[in-house]
Amino acid sequence: MSVATEAWSPNSWEQHPVAQNPNWPDLDALVAAQQALGAQPPLVFAGEARRLTDQLGDVAEGRAFLLQAGDCAESFDGGSADSIRDKLKVILQMAVALTYASGVPVLKVGRIAGQFAKPRSEQTETRNGVTLESFRGHIVNDEPFTESDRRPNPDRLLTAYHQSVATLNLLRAFTKGGFADLSRVHAWNQEFVAHSAEGVRYSQIADEIERALRFMRACGIDLAREGSLHSVDFYTSHEALVLPYEQALTRQDSLSGDWYDCSAHMLWIGDRTRQLDGAHVEFLRGVGNPIGLKVGPSMTPSELLALCERLNPNNVAGRLTLISRLGRSTIGQQLPALIESVRDAGHRVLWACDPMHGNTFTASGGQKTRRFDDILDEVRQFFSIHRELGSWPGGLHVELTGDNVTECLGGASDLSESDLELNYTSMCDPRLNASQSLDLAFRVSEFLQS
Ligand code: TRP
Ligand code: MN
Repeated sequence: MSVATEAWSPNSWEQHPVAQNPNWPDLDALVAAQQALGAQPPLVFAGEARRLTDQLGDVAEGRAFLLQAGDCAESFDGGSADSIRDKLKVILQMAVALTYASGVPVLKVGRIAGQFAKPRSEQTETRNGVTLESFRGHIVNDEPFTESDRRPNPDRLLTAYHQSVATLNLLRAFTKGGFADLSRVHAWNQEFVAHSAEGVRYSQIADEIERALRFMRACGIDLAREGSLHSVDFYTSHEALVLPYEQALTRQDSLSGDWYDCSAHMLWIGDRTRQLDGAHVEFLRGVGNPIGLKVGPSMTPSELLALCERLNPNNVAGRLTLISRLGRSTIGQQLPALIESVRDAGHRVLWACDPMHGNTFTASGGQKTRRFDDILDEVRQFFSIHRELGSWPGGLHVELTGDNVTECLGGASDLSESDLELNYTSMCDPRLNASQSLDLAFRVSEFLQS
């Protein structure tokens, strides 16, 4: 069945079961917030989303690579210019390493400027006999365990929108206004990374890039006129979890007449909200943006085929990115059959690896953490399984920050469990710090070359 034959509207999702729905106590206030959002300008344009779909189509066909990275959940307190800049620096550094090694374009998509919501396994949390709504991310409620903090508050939808506007504005300025210019390749190496082994390795690539640029200039190429050297296309993405927010930012494109969710360029469906007849699948099947689907260990090949059919009925390459998050001990058993059934059914998808979410555990000190080596191991298996099946390992999806946090174990600086307490600032899942992220990019570069 195609999108056109089955009626869809921006609110048709309301007729479907909504997984992970907050208990909004005041529905009038929710509607008022949606109306206020509906009167705001879009964050992104349909044309940008279409361009990303085209570029992701190149990834699906093995001619490019996708780097999707950013926070687990952004915070209303964390949107400072410095933290946005530092996150961007790490992503640019990773992109340089991956582009240099692979020789193919690397698409840069942030988990940023809208990644505020988190799915929870329990609707409520009970402490000392008191039961309150679970913390669902700053777009819904707040962390402290008090009645007023935990009450879902629709005003937060507007705050999320405004913070996304400010973040995206800065990202556009940085990526188009000179900060991302390849001649500044050394300047993205942060002080605390520069002295580490991966920082030194990065400097060597940066030297080689500078030499290549000098060579081109000496050959008479006017580098100033080569626009692509001076800026990058940086796209935004987040999990489309809070549907009243997504709906309110969904607009009809005046050129094509199609609907686009203008809260971000790319949206994904989480592993907990991917029910075939659920509200999230219903909503996203109707928007023209490129979409992602997280593929966790409970996904069966037949469910996945039905989802591909529903989400990409016209089989457009670049429309659907399957992001496997199976865990290092499960990927070997499950991924091959999933890849083969999708391929045998003729679906044109691209596969990316989220090596974070299937490898989380609780450290002895009580913090949620992940081991760098487990993360790397899942990526390694992802590459070798794809290579064996003749399929393109198209992308990497990671949670990171530009700060010098101590949330994941290992890496070149070899963080141990006792280091976790030094600088653990994530509101949600443990993120790779800047050095660990760069370390991972170098390892992935090696997989891409072999
Ligand atoms: N525009 C090109 C690209 O995005 C080259 C480029 C410019 C680049 N600045 C960059 C690549 C920073 C990586 C990082 O690929
Ligand atoms: Mn997460």
